[in-house]
Amino acid sequence: MFQTDLLKGKRILITGGGTGLGFSMGRRFLELGASLVICGRRPEVLTAAAAKLGGETGGKVETQVCDVRDAEAVEKMAEAIWAEGPLDCLVNNAAGNFIARSEELSPRAIDAVLGIVLRGSAYCTTACGRRWIKAGHKASVLSIITTYAWTGSAYVLPSAMAKAGVLAMTRSLAVEWGGKGVRLNAIAPGPFPTAGAWERLVPRPELAQVFESKNPLKRVGEHIELANLASFLLSDFAGYINGEVVTIDGGEWLQGAGQFNFLERLTDADWESLKPKKK
Ligand code: HXC
Ligand code: NAP
Repeated sequence: MFQTDLLKGKRILITGGGTGLGFSMGRRFLELGASLVICGRRPEVLTAAAAKLGGETGGKVETQVCDVRDAEAVEKMAEAIWAEGPLDCLVNNAAGNFIARSEELSPRAIDAVLGIVLRGSAYCTTACGRRWIKAGHKASVLSIITTYAWTGSAYVLPSAMAKAGVLAMTRSLAVEWGGKGVRLNAIAPGPFPTAGAWERLVPRPELAQVFESKNPLKRVGEHIELANLASFLLSDFAGYINGEVVTIDGGEWLQGAGQFNFLERLTDADWESLKPKKK
């Protein structure tokens, strides 16, 4: 789909890059000429991912053990990264999520998700942004949000609140930092199967089946589809896209929204019988 040097020379930090969508985006960025830094809390996951990504693509992958909820740890990670040279892109991908009835959430449960998604994205973005702005370095930030950042969603309250906040960060800083050479955009994915999301959000086969097919295309997203979109948005070819959120969900959220979309259940025979009778 792309020229193979699309991201050549770009050094990209992916938070949560050791698993799931972060890993898949990382593999595509490497194929397109980027080098990577991946971070997460589990060193063994990062080491294994770096070996696999490097082995498959021949690209350079650095790892940083970092809990993005901890502002000091994020600052230390940025110091360590910049000691080797500047980043060009940040992907805010790390997340925590689970389904629960909101009235049963403990304060720690709420804080666990807000801490990773809302605060973690803000800490990583400002740690990178202040370095880019000081050095006059052109850069780009991409945050992985969800469509319920604007629709809201039952049973994932802290995640919905946090993702809405990350979208607000994207739009706020796109204006504040655009003139300083830093673009910010977001991607809102529909269902893309990963162990992390499926274990926590659709832990039973019957729930998974509904989740995977409740969109007009009746299928889940393929990781490469999201990875290609992310590659484009980080590339210089997207240089005039700033403050945008691109939805990649097969039409899932619109299907849930349109007032008459429920008529999808009508058969051809139903439609025939509903036609006005000729006089
Ligand atoms: C209710 C829960 C819970 C659950 C944890 N808690 N899981 N409460 N229901 N299922 C509560 C705990 O009881 C505890 O509160 C508090 O949350 C913190 O839990 P810990 O296990 O100590 O936290 P921690 O080890 O920091 O783990 C954070 C986590 C975990 C978010 C809870 O799931 C995690 O590490 N997630 C990272 C990966 C992830 O979630 N990936 C999915 C991303 S998918 P108390 O009060 O008991 O101490 C995604 C998709 C979005 O975001 C859109 C889909 C379309
Ligand atoms: P995943 O594999 O569970 O990815 C989450 C990653 O975040 C893990 O690598 C995890 O590593 C890291 N992480 C969690 N807490 C962290 C912390 N405190 N500090 C640093 N890293 C942390 O899930 P995924 O499905 O790929 O999700 C990736 C992104 O896509 C998330 O932003 C998610 O909200 C978004 N998304 C996914 C879907 C989907 O269908 N999969 C849909 C919409 C949006 P450690 O546990 O080792 O820290």
